[in-house]
Amino acid sequence: MILDPFGRPTTNLRISVTQRCNLRCIYCHREGETSPETEMTVDEIVEIVKLGVELGIKSVKLTGGEPLVREDILKIVKSISRIPGVQDLSMTTNGNLLPVYAEDLAEAGLNRVNVSLPTLNEQKYRAITGGDLKPVIAGIKAAVTAGLNPVKLNMVYMKGINTDEVYSMIDFAAKTNTILQVIELEPVNLDRDFYEKHHAPLDALIKYLSERAKEVKVRRNMQNRKVYVLPEAKVEVVPPIENTEFCMHCTRIRLTSDGKLKPCLMRQDNLVDILTPMRNGADRAVLKNLFIEAIKRRRPYFIPSR
Ligand code: 5AD
Ligand code: SF4
Repeated sequence: MILDPFGRPTTNLRISVTQRCNLRCIYCHREGETSPETEMTVDEIVEIVKLGVELGIKSVKLTGGEPLVREDILKIVKSISRIPGVQDLSMTTNGNLLPVYAEDLAEAGLNRVNVSLPTLNEQKYRAITGGDLKPVIAGIKAAVTAGLNPVKLNMVYMKGINTDEVYSMIDFAAKTNTILQVIELEPVNLDRDFYEKHHAPLDALIKYLSERAKEVKVRRNMQNRKVYVLPEAKVEVVPPIENTEFCMHCTRIRLTSDGKLKPCLMRQDNLVDILTPMRNGADRAVLKNLFIEAIKRRRPYFIPSR
């Protein structure tokens, strides 16, 4: 395994398999991507994952856009889950197609899933995402039944939109055997006005959770995220990335849907294109060096001030 210049291992690969999406969420940061021109094929994705595994990647997350709009998504899951060294394969989805796919995904080797769920109110859901809430709720239940474990609910926390719903979301998580993950709104790719209007710090919520938790766990190497074990459910809080601890414990690298290794969500200026050389027939050794170069370009975006 190689370490980046800050001594951090790179164990998590987050792959955007497409930028296409069947929803239009008002808060969507599109994984920090701008308009891609091409999409990687299954074989290309698999080859890049194999290179990553040789360099220390253990955990792979598929994201989008919406991964389930790719017609060959089951083939992608099956192929990656069979790569020796991939210990954990998960997906972040908006859940709309989960009623159709949950069982097949589990069968294909997906271990767990994160479902974006900003609200439990149908009208609000339509206003936030442009889509229908019902299949998402059915999809969450289908995922739990299929044995995907854990199923996490991603709730982006937005002032004036859904902050009042945290308590009903905790109840929903308890009822469905899922884990609620509350995420602070990130400014990436967002309109400044929207961000300023709806961004809210998580401090008050964290205080509430700390007081009620019977136990607090720290997820080492996952940006030291905290998990609050409440009597009825687990709640995870994704801290603001403008937090030096978050960056110092980051073990992630991203792969954009058009085949560029992206060392940091926040930056557009240090990507390493691995797909173009691959398509031009570059040697495996050359491609591996490109992956190493991307790891070397990893820097904590927010560095502790001395
Ligand atoms: N801030 C924080 N989280 C976001 N997501 C999408 N856009 C933003 C944003 N601006 C989350 C969604 C999705 C996950 C991949 O990223 O909840 O579940
Ligand atoms: Fe963005 Fe995800 Fe919403 Fe699609 S479902 S618009 S990718 S946040």
